[in-house]
Amino acid sequence: MAKDKSIFTCNECGGTSPKWLGKCPSCAAWNTLVESSTVAESGVRNRFASLAGTAQVAVLADIEASDVDRTPTGHSELDRVLGGGIVQGGVVLIGGDPGIGKSTLLLQALDSLQRAGKKTLYVTGEESGAQVALRSRRLGLDASQVSVLAEIQLEKILGALGSQQPDVAVIDSIQTVYSDQLTSAPGSVAQVRECAAHLTRAAKSAGVCIVLVGHVTKEGALAGPRVLEHMVDTVLYFEGDTHSQFRLVRAIKNRFGAVNEIGVFAMTEKGLKGVSNPSAIFLSQHAEPVPGSCVMVTLEGTRPLLVEIQALVDSGGPSPRRLSVGLDRDRLAMLLAVLHRHAGVACMDQDVFINAVGGVRIGEPAADLAVMLAISSSLRGKPLPKGFVAFGEVGLAGEVRPAPRGQERLREAAKLGFTQAIVPKANAPKKPMDGMTVHAVERVEEALQIVRSWG
Ligand code: TYD
Ligand code: MG
Repeated sequence: MAKDKSIFTCNECGGTSPKWLGKCPSCAAWNTLVESSTVAESGVRNRFASLAGTAQVAVLADIEASDVDRTPTGHSELDRVLGGGIVQGGVVLIGGDPGIGKSTLLLQALDSLQRAGKKTLYVTGEESGAQVALRSRRLGLDASQVSVLAEIQLEKILGALGSQQPDVAVIDSIQTVYSDQLTSAPGSVAQVRECAAHLTRAAKSAGVCIVLVGHVTKEGALAGPRVLEHMVDTVLYFEGDTHSQFRLVRAIKNRFGAVNEIGVFAMTEKGLKGVSNPSAIFLSQHAEPVPGSCVMVTLEGTRPLLVEIQALVDSGGPSPRRLSVGLDRDRLAMLLAVLHRHAGVACMDQDVFINAVGGVRIGEPAADLAVMLAISSSLRGKPLPKGFVAFGEVGLAGEVRPAPRGQERLREAAKLGFTQAIVPKANAPKKPMDGMTVHAVERVEEALQIVRSWG
């Protein structure tokens, strides 16, 4: 294939330059030019040239709306986050830390799709065919009919997609794929973006579902999946602690389904198994209540989950630390200020650590009340009572705001044997609940008063 000349495109304004420059000639932003291959031969890029005269414009009401056709992957937890299954021509990006189980899950999914009569292709750039085979044996897929291609060059992968015509293809991983049209190294932003764009186009034109695997780097994933999120139809992220058995797959973007839905898996000897009733897996098992622990009910997608929030408040140095795992650190700073101002709980000279048990990440503000109660419990060295849960958002004025679908959260907690709860007033049930004493509060200081009255 003849080499096209590279051009450099600005990330900010879309302006181009024939060579790399530190400063964009169009918008003067620094370090925004990245390499991409040329589209137009003429040298003059007219952005509308290819569109002239061909496009048909139609009124929305006249376009027939057809629902997308989904093929279930055979793994119900994965189907849940995909919105029912894979879609023809859909591009899915699945990101996560190395070793979390992306390759394992996708190999399992391809195998069941193959069994269901779909043609599948697994393109591996990280492992050899033999390694993939070894993994499939380990997963008990000895007779698997999934086709495997060990290749990292984009043009060859596109060729294989054309000749094999699979229904579903997995590219594991997009960071290893490179195009010889670009001079930059595999894994660089330019390569990852360009290769993903070509694969996306191939998926749309051939009606193949393509799953791109992307590694997230700890440093904020510059060359990772983040730069691809806008290109693809569905973005899934693996979460969880690689040391624990449980993994969450969260949909953060889905053109074909709901977002924020989660799938829960357990890593076993024979690969990932769906956990269909996951509400209690993020609770640690304390024989007796311990100080600094408060259970909250979080609502992930359509399912409530009980998660233990732990806090440790310990005397710190001249500049005390605030660290959080699984919760937002800025929010922690805010909650500490609210605790001080409105409830008189001071942690100024203390280190404060908070953790959501089991590697789960909680983004919703309904965790606020549980975080504050865990902090005050740790500070006082007094445990919260056995069977206690709390949830509710806390505002800067110290008010406790309702969480969406509070009744459902309370019912789930009651079902799992919890007996006492502190919740926002608007979430309190109208009638008393069986086996659950609910304390409704409007302000943080009320919540802390209730807890203090228990000793
Ligand atoms: P992997 O799918 O290779 O992760 P990724 O593709 O996200 O980098 O997962 C590998 C981890 O999973 C590895 O630490 C071993 C473990 N594992 C099991 O516990 N059971 C299994 O059946 C398999 C295949 C892997
Ligand atoms: Mg892998």
